[in-house]
Amino acid sequence: MTNSICGNNQQLRNVLEAINAEPAGISFIIDAEKKLVGVVTDGDFRRLLLSGKKLEDPLLETDYNNCVVASQGEDIHALIKKTNKKVRIIPIIDDKGYPIDYFRYEHKTRFTPVAEPSLTSKELEYLTDAFLSTWISSRGKYIDRFEIEFAQYVDCKFGVATSNGTVAIHLALVALGVGKGDEVIVPDLTFAATINAVLHCGATPVIVDVEKERWTISPHEMEAAITENTKAIIPVHIYGQPCEMDEIMRIANKHKLFVVEDCAEAHGAMYSGKKVGSFGHISTYSFFGNKILTTGEGGMCVTTDVDLDGKMRVLRDHGMSPTKKYWHDEIGFNYRMTNLQAAIGCAQLERIDSILSSRFRIEETYRKCLAELNEITWQLDFQEAKRVVWLVSILVKKKNRNEIIRKLKEQNIDARPFFYPLSKMPIYEQYSTKECKNAQMLSSTGINLPTVEDVDLSKIATAFNL
Ligand SMILES: Cc1ncc(COP(=O)(O)O)c(C=O)c1O
Repeated sequence: MTNSICGNNQQLRNVLEAINAEPAGISFIIDAEKKLVGVVTDGDFRRLLLSGKKLEDPLLETDYNNCVVASQGEDIHALIKKTNKKVRIIPIIDDKGYPIDYFRYEHKTRFTPVAEPSLTSKELEYLTDAFLSTWISSRGKYIDRFEIEFAQYVDCKFGVATSNGTVAIHLALVALGVGKGDEVIVPDLTFAATINAVLHCGATPVIVDVEKERWTISPHEMEAAITENTKAIIPVHIYGQPCEMDEIMRIANKHKLFVVEDCAEAHGAMYSGKKVGSFGHISTYSFFGNKILTTGEGGMCVTTDVDLDGKMRVLRDHGMSPTKKYWHDEIGFNYRMTNLQAAIGCAQLERIDSILSSRFRIEETYRKCLAELNEITWQLDFQEAKRVVWLVSILVKKKNRNEIIRKLKEQNIDARPFFYPLSKMPIYEQYSTKECKNAQMLSSTGINLPTVEDVDLSKIATAFNL
């Protein structure tokens, strides 16, 4: 640092030598009283030479830049705040104005997505094996293996792999006989796929509010919404938090309703010692690229009912008879998953414990880094539930939410607002009869933060004004 300090009465040659002495490529210019008056970077110097200056010329006041400075002892958050994409070096001065050190911070331009699949050589190995086997369509050893192993993992007997999580819900509802005239209860806070699947069956969705603290469907509101036309309920384990499955199953059994658990965001979560997905008649998963376990695109229906398993297999494959090729007893779909997708799924499933614990570690790091902020409400843990981390999900003050997301975007960090309440979207509002205050509150205050390994937490802290 000392060698890069240069007096303002020197020649440009001395300034260049000072710049050259400092790996950061900068010279700190001081006046006769040894007070910092500005800086010259190697870029500034290049521009001086290009403007016709000679190395023998004296350094003039117009040759150096006034700069933002920091005082000795300023904390790291304050220092980061003083930097930006152009200003990467902040001189630190003592109480007499003499430069004693500098702070350097590179604002990475790399885009940090909200989610990133965790892919290793294991996925590549299985994928290559499936590719080389030439079984790249919807038959092959990985399909069978993935269905069996995934169903086992979620404490179910049968798995029916599908091309995505949305069609998995649709397939489940059709297999349960949900159709025109039936009502299906869905939570207000969920991704639109849940309600769309109901509408694609020709059934009527009934939107109900979620719990304020748990964010999942309110069993009380659910029961209040049951009519003689209700046929099924779709509890959604939103943002990795298990719904109150004991209570939901009690109500469903009392009213003889089907339960389709939407587990798209909760692979591996547990309730009362059992995996989510093992409570409902059929449960569905998504393996989209941003999900805990991914196959690129993909989904799965799981069940322990052998008849439902058989029905779903037929419906998934154009309604074709399993015993008589090209004979169709039902109007089905092509909802099949490919062997290539399943190969990735098998590898992911082998690594699921480490994927889950790494996501918990990421959330833990956020909690530590942002601990000083009492404005943040973290996702809660409930005694009987073992949630998983899908996206790190927090609540902030409504008035600050969009500004925080904007500041994160400015720093190339992708953060997402929570889903809009279904009932607030014109295409769905007719399916809600009551105000869903909790879903509205959560939707306007929730943020999903990037759940990736190398997220730059200092940038996150800056966006939160820390
Ligand atoms: C709660 C929920 N249900 C269903 C889906 C649909 O899954 P997919 O995108 O695989 O169709 C998603 C996906 O984002 C989801 O979050």
